[in-house]
Amino acid sequence: IMTRPVVFWCIVLVVAMDIKLRDCRMCDLYKLPGQVVPGEGPKDAEYMFVAEAPGAEEALRGRPLIGPSGKRFDLLLKVGDFDREKCYVTNLLKHRTPRNRKPKVAEINVCDQWLKQELEWVRPRIIVALGATAAEWFVGHRVAMKKEHGMPRALTIAQWGGLFVAMYHPAAVFRNPNLWAVMVEDFKLLPSRVTTATERVTPVWKTLMTPKELMEALCVNLQLY
Ligand code: URA
Repeated sequence: IMTRPVVFWCIVLVVAMDIKLRDCRMCDLYKLPGQVVPGEGPKDAEYMFVAEAPGAEEALRGRPLIGPSGKRFDLLLKVGDFDREKCYVTNLLKHRTPRNRKPKVAEINVCDQWLKQELEWVRPRIIVALGATAAEWFVGHRVAMKKEHGMPRALTIAQWGGLFVAMYHPAAVFRNPNLWAVMVEDFKLLPSRVTTATERVTPVWKTLMTPKELMEALCVNLQLY
């Protein structure tokens, strides 16, 4: 590790974020029982999956998408031949909401700083938003899931640029079982749709942070300025 300064500083940054996230008091959700749920996965992941907010089981165990929705998500990953270990999985909100209600705009506006950091570090080639709440944060306007699901498109947001895909949230199937076939189809076709779309997109995600940028990010993170 010490021979590769960039790797070293990336690890320091991730640990620093984790400590700060566990201590986050930016909205009232931390007062509810349960743990904060950071994203998980390799920092060089090609795919980043972003769901809405942790559910009961996630808040209990501190890991994203491991409850009933997570089980569905795992099945869908299998359909698309994705290895979960190689994907970065996270949520728009890092704390559970009361009875899993929709996140409030004010909560999203303070919590999204964590997701922006994750984007900056992982710089995935493809982002998959699971559900309209996450999708709408990325594109900045309402998403008609019925029309837009499953189709990759180029997107630039904050420091990140790459391919973006809106998918149905795995929990949507609990309300509408007919959606399962659509979701299976979307995950099955995702790799080939991404290949086709990649041919039309400039690969901006390849840019890496310079050591100076890394140091600056670290200072901001630790509030040294
Ligand atoms: N639903 C989500 O949106 N995220 C989770 O982590 C679990 C359930």
